[in-house]
Amino acid sequence: MATVRLDDVSKVYPGKQAVKAVDNVTIHIADREFLVLVGPSGCGKSTTLRMVAGLEDISSGTISIGDNVVNDVAPKDRDVAMVFQNYALYPHMTVYKNMAFGLKMRKVPKAEIHEKVTRAAKMLGIEHLLQRKPKALSGGERQRVAVGRAIVRTPRAFLFDEPLSNLDARLRIQMRAELKKLHRELQTTAIYVTHDQEEAMTLGDRIAVMKGGIVQQCASPVDVYERPANRFVAGFVGIPPMNFFEGRVVQADGRLRFDTGYGMLDIPQGVATALGNRTGDALVYGARPEVLTLNADPAGGGLDMKVTVIEILGSDKDVYLEAPRGGQVVARVPVATPVTEGSRVLVGFDAARVHLFETGETGVNVGLNGYGAAPSAN
Ligand SMILES: Nc1ncnc2c1ncn2[C@@H]1O[C@H](COP(=O)(O)OP(=O)(O)O)[C@@H](O)[C@H]1O
Ligand SMILES: [Mg+2]
Repeated sequence: MATVRLDDVSKVYPGKQAVKAVDNVTIHIADREFLVLVGPSGCGKSTTLRMVAGLEDISSGTISIGDNVVNDVAPKDRDVAMVFQNYALYPHMTVYKNMAFGLKMRKVPKAEIHEKVTRAAKMLGIEHLLQRKPKALSGGERQRVAVGRAIVRTPRAFLFDEPLSNLDARLRIQMRAELKKLHRELQTTAIYVTHDQEEAMTLGDRIAVMKGGIVQQCASPVDVYERPANRFVAGFVGIPPMNFFEGRVVQADGRLRFDTGYGMLDIPQGVATALGNRTGDALVYGARPEVLTLNADPAGGGLDMKVTVIEILGSDKDVYLEAPRGGQVVARVPVATPVTEGSRVLVGFDAARVHLFETGETGVNVGLNGYGAAPSAN
């Protein structure tokens, strides 16, 4: 158990075209916290994790585990355990020997090894597999063995790099729940890398959303969802993704409104206050699918759109709409909402739950406290 702190950590892969894979990352992970690093492929997640493990040198900055700066500490002396996507099991060893290997190398007495392996195997429900070799196991079973090998060592922190990516959807969801339970039992600090925002949201105490080597936001799943720091975070987290509309802030009917050029939309009071008198500025209006209503009251404004496809989900349905200027918009509404494919509807918005962003891929969320400040790192 330990805190893990990254302070201004950067990584440049040298070469003809040097890559800044990780750019000034500061994240302070609390003792026993489950922190998820999430972002699209190539955003620097694995590099960040590998620097914590010591598998990759740090170009600048400081990494500490507990009270120790570990920048120059060898991987084997950092007392962390890593679980990889490809499991990295020894094919010629039994499950038992795979799990015992790290302890044996550390010259742990045989009886203690036996006790630890047996307990971990029991925790993971793989006691009956201990004498098998990896090739005689299913993907899910191999994954359990890889996790078992990490937990027998009771390290100061677990590092996971996309450990569930090779499993089918059903198993992934099952293992996700098991990892969460395991973390509650073991109470060990964990850093978990995934490109899957849903996995991040369900597993993390906090999630750090990365893009281009930069942490865009690090906060609780609820905060990231409800108060995205910028447009990138808003669009990355949530399925189906947030809808965005380009337009301008205008004075209309004695208040600030958002003019899309084909319909007026209301701006939340807090955002209007933050905007002050920025009339005429180009901004982006963001609304999650569940914030849209169909067949809205024309008096409240809204956007006229054509219904293209309806997908029934159970108690809800996703209604895909054609935006007036092209592009797809999606509304999630109760399944009983009267609407048919091919018809036109007036789409309304729950103005208390929309966001306004500066233009650009990582345009800042105008309605947040400290609007305009650099994205928070911890
Ligand atoms: N050994 C390496 N040499 C050069 N560039 C690398 C190396 N490893 C990763 N990169 C580059 O660094 C960036 C981040 O990679 P990585 O951390 O693996 O991303 P992620 O895990 O988020 O997909 C990418 O642009 C990748 O191509
Ligand atoms: Mg990776």
